Amino acid sequence: MYQPSEATVGRARIAGRAAYDRLVAEAEADPGAYWGRLARELLAWKQPFTQALDARRAPFFEWFADGTLNASYNCLDRQVENGLGEKTAIIFEADDGAVTRISYQDLLARVCRTANVLKSLGVGRGDRVVIYMAMSIDGVVAMQACARIGAVHSVVFGGFSAQSLRDRIADTGAVLVLTADQQVRGGKQLPLKAIVDEALGLGGCDSVRHVLVTRRTGGAVPFQAPRDLWMADLAAAQEPVCEPEWVDAEHPLFLLYTSGSTGKPKGVQHATGGYLLHAALTCQWTFDLGPDDVFWCTADIGWVTGHTYIAYGPLAIGATQVVFEGVPTYPDAGRFWKMIQDHKVSVFYTAPTAIRSLIKMAEGNDAVHPRNYDLASLRILGSVGEPINPAAWEWYHRHVGGGRCPVLDTFWQTETGGHMITPLPGVTPLVPGSCTLPFPGIDAAVVDEAGNELPWGQGGILVVRKPWPSMIRTIWGDPERFKASYYPEEFQGRYYLAGDGAMRDKTTGYFTITGRIDDVLNVSGHRMGTMEIESALVAMTDLVAEAAVVGRPDDTTGEAVCAFVVLKRPLPSGDEARRIAEQLRNWVGKEIGPIAKPRDIRFGDNLPKTRSGKIMRRLLRTLAKGEVVTQDVSTLENPAVLEQLGQPY
Ligand code: WT7
Repeated sequence: MYQPSEATVGRARIAGRAAYDRLVAEAEADPGAYWGRLARELLAWKQPFTQALDARRAPFFEWFADGTLNASYNCLDRQVENGLGEKTAIIFEADDGAVTRISYQDLLARVCRTANVLKSLGVGRGDRVVIYMAMSIDGVVAMQACARIGAVHSVVFGGFSAQSLRDRIADTGAVLVLTADQQVRGGKQLPLKAIVDEALGLGGCDSVRHVLVTRRTGGAVPFQAPRDLWMADLAAAQEPVCEPEWVDAEHPLFLLYTSGSTGKPKGVQHATGGYLLHAALTCQWTFDLGPDDVFWCTADIGWVTGHTYIAYGPLAIGATQVVFEGVPTYPDAGRFWKMIQDHKVSVFYTAPTAIRSLIKMAEGNDAVHPRNYDLASLRILGSVGEPINPAAWEWYHRHVGGGRCPVLDTFWQTETGGHMITPLPGVTPLVPGSCTLPFPGIDAAVVDEAGNELPWGQGGILVVRKPWPSMIRTIWGDPERFKASYYPEEFQGRYYLAGDGAMRDKTTGYFTITGRIDDVLNVSGHRMGTMEIESALVAMTDLVAEAAVVGRPDDTTGEAVCAFVVLKRPLPSGDEARRIAEQLRNWVGKEIGPIAKPRDIRFGDNLPKTRSGKIMRRLLRTLAKGEVVTQDVSTLENPAVLEQLGQPY
């Protein structure tokens, strides 16, 4: 156990266990009063709310519902009004190392111009806008500009395919797509606008009136008037002032698609007030961000981490942050450490998968080991997206944090909007591999199948028993799926079901996340449904008869995708099998995105099934790990398939 150092406690906003306990007690005594107090303290309201929580339509909980505010006003104007206009909001480092700084007042002006452009195109309150952009100031500006006019953004990660982009555009009914000509990563120029064209060409996107394009590389891109427009041309004609659109606290701020265990990705809907409160609050309490900190969250704005801890949270509290366009391994695997050194980053937030791969690289090449860089500016480290294994935790703590920076293992989800279970730097003694204790006000528990709380030391299902402000409001267009996914009948609709298993330590009560309890995989911190990949594979109708996808543990990526495939042709082997496997991988890459490509593909004449015809996924997981099958296989129709499926391609 690592105790918080005196230095950390000394400057922490929440210092000492007693302070934590007081907050927990306050929240428990009267959740509405607790969150209401914080919402008044942390956010600027146009019209103050009179009631914090409205549970009449549970599980469609509403927070601060009769209050009005604007997220962009809270993130930008407020800082300028408080004398922070000249403070650096964003230090942007491009892929090639070029650095651009933008102050709060300049960011505000740019957001206003962009907001005016959107308005000039007839985009307004409640309209959906899809953003398909890379890491850039423009990306953050696009999100903030939507928030300013009450439009609902849906950012699609720049690594998703045209098909995935099309599905999201169609589901949201977006009127506008914001994109860039190209993106640059690792020295390579990659398409964005061309993929938007392809997506729109796939059909079902009739709601889209315009594609608004920012210039990044100046590379030639197809352009189709009058649909396509250059942002710069339109922005030049706009005023740098735009009155914010005051919206109800429950007004949707954004939709963000994420994978579930069944069906298509779901559009997680977040509300303006509650979401922004938790984004700001966790930046203050978890990251302990103060006026002199330089924060760097390495996530992409295409994921929720990039929403809460880049586009909204740091700005809502007037912090300075680094935004990075590139990849951790370019021009070499010392890039993160060099950037921390150059920008004097004090609070650094990244994913275990990045740490694990950088450990490997540092072990192979001492020149990129963090010890070669001056990392003395660091004071807090964070981890997010997947469990961090104790060995990676220890390395991060020792070699990046110099043994003096707490490593905060933050557990949360797209649906939760911000941190749920996490250490607080000035409070929580750390145990590698544990996300420790709930954030004050979050009523997390480990229960059995009937919803009864389990004693510490026993593994079970992770639930949240009370609503909290930044929780998912619904699944866009599918409230029934929202209820079934998160407030299932098994718990009489009383508890929020996270979809993860967890266990509390016998003596400390600390939580450890034991992994998903549904068919959701986590590859390099990217969430994917096995069903989505299966659907992509069987969509190759002339080649694939049947497919099942499971995950297997992987040292670097956490999990790896393994596909079991039955072809509509005789069982392949050798070069032919390798060729078909490559074809299938590329197909999945095109259908979903490169991150979903199966690592292993195994072919069989059949898949192992129970007598009732259910695929024996547990057995597949054993095979995927390359372990000896000890399960009962007596019900298998054709036991020989086990041998066939033992060979990965
Ligand atoms: C799933 C949510 C959290 C924002 C980025 C991912 C896993 C996340 C941790 C952690 C163990 C974690 C869970 C969760 N997860 N953080 N600290 N320890 N597991 O958001 O894509 O919605 O994925 O990521 O399985 O349910 P997401």
